[in-house]
Amino acid sequence: MSLYLPADPDQVATPTAVVIAATGAMTGRNGEYDKTLGDLAGVYQDEAAYRAEVAAVGGDTLVYRVEENRVGSGPGALVLGTSTVAPGRIGREFALTRGHIHRNASRAEIYHCVAGRGVMLMDTVDGRSQALEMSPGVAVHVPGYWIHRSVNTGPEPLVTVFCYDQDAGQDYAVIERAGGMSQLVVVADGQPGGYQLVPNPNHSGYSER
Ligand SMILES: [Fe+2]
Repeated sequence: MSLYLPADPDQVATPTAVVIAATGAMTGRNGEYDKTLGDLAGVYQDEAAYRAEVAAVGGDTLVYRVEENRVGSGPGALVLGTSTVAPGRIGREFALTRGHIHRNASRAEIYHCVAGRGVMLMDTVDGRSQALEMSPGVAVHVPGYWIHRSVNTGPEPLVTVFCYDQDAGQDYAVIERAGGMSQLVVVADGQPGGYQLVPNPNHSGYSER
């Protein structure tokens, strides 16, 4: 019995180093997925603008890409990865990720912005809301129990490096059940290139499953 080794010492994973480019490309990735416009049906609040955009550019247009490096498994193991959100808007709403709360809700997450600019939009299920700006060099610490989503408010891809516990899991349905997050990140009136936060008129409050 050791304080510093698991019962089976063969479970001690091998350390790895990866190289992360400003494009979000990561060497040594062992997981990746893409989300297309077609995957995001119901996520944007302006349904007509969403349908028009799908018709114009196609449902297979990439909205965001995630690359992951997983080392080891079990309690305490981390996921290191990159998220790259393409620039764009659906109606007045800026390009975004689906967003989620961790299934194991106490689990926190770090997002370190390496390129582009945007907002980390966060809600708690009991009505708190935060939007923190991201630009290269900014790291956002998302504590446990916060629903979170990245929004690209700039003209370039928004690239962040994230890290969270492998046992966190993702619950996307919490946002769907609520009619979206409590705030929308939309183009600013009379302020070219700017954004503003507005209440989401379709948000009905969060509920547990
Ligand atoms: Fe997360």
